[in-house]
Amino acid sequence: MNAQDTAKRAAGEQAATLVEEGMRVGLGTGSTTAYALDALGRRIREDGLTIRGVPTSYAAERLARQHGIPLVSLSDVAALDIALDGADEIDEHLHLIKGRGAAHTREKVVAAQAERFVVLADPSKRVDQLGTAMPLPVEVLPMAAEPVLRTLRTLGADPELRMGMRKDGPVITDQGFWVIDAHFEGIDAPAELDRALLSTPGVLDHGLFLGLATDVLIGQPDGAVKHLA
Ligand code: 5RP
Repeated sequence: MNAQDTAKRAAGEQAATLVEEGMRVGLGTGSTTAYALDALGRRIREDGLTIRGVPTSYAAERLARQHGIPLVSLSDVAALDIALDGADEIDEHLHLIKGRGAAHTREKVVAAQAERFVVLADPSKRVDQLGTAMPLPVEVLPMAAEPVLRTLRTLGADPELRMGMRKDGPVITDQGFWVIDAHFEGIDAPAELDRALLSTPGVLDHGLFLGLATDVLIGQPDGAVKHLA
């Protein structure tokens, strides 16, 4: 296992220890959260832990089923005790960019329902300014893609439609929408950009997570974990 995977595993396993008996848990998407789901599966099998999980994507749903984590939907639970998820960028205010896996819309819905939203990451995700290491994913209605691309250019971005890797044409999200990756040379006013995007017709949601994270666990290459809150 390389140093980055050791760090991800450390964050994921520590996150799983925050989950207590009977909790309703948001289950995030991505390679770091996968370690948390693995650890939760072990606790269910070996310690008889009883939890209910709400997945943030088809990927999370499939992984949770493989680990024997019982699943419910947001129609079945009034709120979540905790949500665990990864991130693509994390700034000093614990604001995030998410959506490398195109799951950010459901991830935001789930995070917003959680009393505690715990973000798991390796050190490469920490940035001085959002939008410097990763593009901002924007999920759009397919027929609105061109107008939204134009709007993003007026907002200072260099946007591109995300294309499939083993599929011709655009990436299709779990909702049947498309994703535009908006490259910025740093996002100076995230709250303003958030409002501008959410008021653009055809935008379903975007990957800025502002004021949602309550805790960030940064796994280290030596297996230690730094807790930011
Ligand atoms: C998916 C996400 C992921 O949580 C984010 O990309 C982090 O993934 P990883 O832990 O694999 O680096 O936002 O939409």
